[in-house]
Amino acid sequence: MTNRRPPAIQVHGLEKSYKELRVLRGVDFEVARGGIFALLGSNGAGKTTVVKILSTLLKADAGTARVNGFDVATQGADVRESISLTGQFAAVDEILSGRENLVLVARLRHVRNPGGIADDLLRRFSLTDAGGRRVATYSGGMRRRLDIAMSLIGDPAVIFLDEPTTGLDPQARIEVWQAVKDLAAGGTTVLLTTQYLDEAEQLADRIAILHEGRILVDGTLDELRRLLPPAKVEYVEKQPTLEDVFLSLVGTKS
Ligand SMILES: Nc1ncnc2c1ncn2[C@@H]1O[C@H](COP(=O)(O)OP(=O)(O)OP(=O)(O)O)[C@@H](O)[C@H]1O
Ligand SMILES: [Mg+2]
Repeated sequence: MTNRRPPAIQVHGLEKSYKELRVLRGVDFEVARGGIFALLGSNGAGKTTVVKILSTLLKADAGTARVNGFDVATQGADVRESISLTGQFAAVDEILSGRENLVLVARLRHVRNPGGIADDLLRRFSLTDAGGRRVATYSGGMRRRLDIAMSLIGDPAVIFLDEPTTGLDPQARIEVWQAVKDLAAGGTTVLLTTQYLDEAEQLADRIAILHEGRILVDGTLDELRRLLPPAKVEYVEKQPTLEDVFLSLVGTKS
């Protein structure tokens, strides 16, 4: 045995049904350490279901999943210590200020110097000026950034971001994208789910497309593009966009 660190996430044959609805029908993928992995799929494809299983909120019916080397079914406490989860809907407390939210989470996670950690995160996420204001007065992008900042407390090895920019305006999305890029640059492994092709294109080192219960393809943007022949327009080679690849695999909207 070598003591090489295991991949951040390993998923094999994952299945999950809600009553008769077979949502996951054998999902396989692996995420190396570091970088940003995007799980892409339409509404209802099962992205949140995968994230819930990986973060031990939900049990799979079959298959195995390991996060940071720990089995989600049998080593739940170790998995939970290795991760943080930012859900599809922001989980910040509106009555508190941004700084108070951060200090609260830092206390709950028993990290040392909660105030210093809070100030550092406010700075990293460009929220220093707004830090003393109640979150109720924040824009959607500021809330999302605060939400992501909260998820960093305690330095988790793997961060799950479930649709981090759904419902945000273009400016706020760009702010959140920058925050996510900064996270990955700091060495954290990020798994994000998205239904936005441009988000995956902008952010992800690797992209997996979840469709009808399985991973259809998994690779870098360039690898996914190579699945389609380049469209020739006169002398200019037009690269297929991720949207072209996605729609050719998943089919056009009905
Ligand atoms: N607790 C539940 N009970 C019954 N059905 C559920 C439950 N949770 C999810 N589903 C169904 O399972 C399917 C997958 O849901 P899931 O939330 O994982 O999709 P998603 O890819 O995250 O979608 P979205 O992009 O809309 O967030 C959907 O058809 C959904 O209605
Ligand atoms: Mg979802």
